[in-house]
Amino acid sequence: MREEIEDYVFHRDFSKTYPIITHGKGIYLYDENGKRFMDACSGAVAANLGHGVEEIAEAMALQAKKAAFVHTMRFETEVLFKLAEKIAKIAPHSLNKVYFTSGGSEANESAIKLARQFHKDAGRPEKHIVIGRWQSYHGNTFGSLSAGGDIKRRQVYTPNLINFNHVHSPNCKRCPYQREKEDCDYKQNWSCVRELESVITEIGPDNVSAFIAEPIVGSQLGAVSAPEGYFKEIRKICDQYNIVLIVDEVMTGFGRTGKDFAIQHYGISPDIMTFGKGVSAGYAPLAGMVVHDRIVDSLIENSKGKFVHGYTYSGHPVSVAAGLSALTIYERDGILKNVQVVGDYLKQQLLALKKRYPIIFDVRGEGLLVGIELAADGEVGTPFPETLHASERINNIAMELGAVFYPGSGSLNGNLGDHLLISPPLNVTSDEVDGMVKILENSLQIFIEELKEEIMYEITKQIR
Ligand SMILES: Cc1ncc(COP(=O)(O)O)c(C=O)c1O
Repeated sequence: MREEIEDYVFHRDFSKTYPIITHGKGIYLYDENGKRFMDACSGAVAANLGHGVEEIAEAMALQAKKAAFVHTMRFETEVLFKLAEKIAKIAPHSLNKVYFTSGGSEANESAIKLARQFHKDAGRPEKHIVIGRWQSYHGNTFGSLSAGGDIKRRQVYTPNLINFNHVHSPNCKRCPYQREKEDCDYKQNWSCVRELESVITEIGPDNVSAFIAEPIVGSQLGAVSAPEGYFKEIRKICDQYNIVLIVDEVMTGFGRTGKDFAIQHYGISPDIMTFGKGVSAGYAPLAGMVVHDRIVDSLIENSKGKFVHGYTYSGHPVSVAAGLSALTIYERDGILKNVQVVGDYLKQQLLALKKRYPIIFDVRGEGLLVGIELAADGEVGTPFPETLHASERINNIAMELGAVFYPGSGSLNGNLGDHLLISPPLNVTSDEVDGMVKILENSLQIFIEELKEEIMYEITKQIR
């Protein structure tokens, strides 16, 4: 097919040639040559029910036939009410109103704007600064990129970014404050919590609008959870200074981590929770935010009920129909239970792999959001050189062998450090997990052999 068609596509990376996918079924994608790829990362942790689910396709087609587009400035649809209800019923308590967007970046953009409008209209006009965390990702639009802390993605656009502040993401295995877990008693002196407080004091609490965080850091750190008690302390600080706590569940929501939402692992409720990806299981662009009653009440009281924001495709009926169908399947098919059971199994298999492959420094994550961190010396965690692009290379080898993982870098300090996310569809079986772990093992083996050859080549070159 590639030879027959003229190429007018603005590719994601013009230095690459991507396989052309013709169809998918379950955890597999097939290209035009019949090659099969095991989707071990659900695309971008989005295709959470795998590929080719006819029930969702039919729900979308049915809605498209009834009314494909209505503008939410003028009209609403039945599917919109049904999906909002389903999401509100599983969201943390007091988060009861659901606002829809097309993607996760737009969702975070909306949350940042809502926090600002909430403060301004309630008589706190100075509050406008967002505090985010380094090594976190909230999207690629300017607002969400400014709130996020992915230094590689921010670099090109630094002059355009909004002057938001950042604190470190907690990562006990690689503590940014070089502290040992044992000497880190959060009640008295927990560095990552104290850092937030000192930044708030420095900026002035009257200027701070919101704090945004991923409950489990996905693409940037490779599935790193917060230490026990961290979010409870964060909640207290946000309450103390009247700061809106935005929790970004774009990657972690809808069962991915073994609970409906990952923040439920920590026993707190945010003020705004954003979501995306899994809400439609990747069948249509859909994302959004669930908002706490006190913010909605304030909007009604202080802003005449109007949020000064909106997109053409907010609440698009066909996307919403896909979401409604996906959530119905998650619930009906007991997906949460599968995530817990098969997620544990996946982690065990990866821990066994770690014993055989010292380049695996760490295995972490919850449910089916599992990360492995790679290191040149897995004992002490010495990272691979950045120029090696270790995680990208291992994933390229895996793709040759017929599986796709989600590679990432910067897990040590934003630049150095390599990791891979293993995040298959939530209905994956343990047999399928065995298949993907086998391909991962073979890929690591080939990578190690390639490295040995390259090192030998360098040594011979130097001797010569
Ligand atoms: C935690 C998190 N937030 C936001 C986004 C941005 O979502 P989107 O790419 O749909 O705009 C992502 C995407 O990977 C994400 O992982």
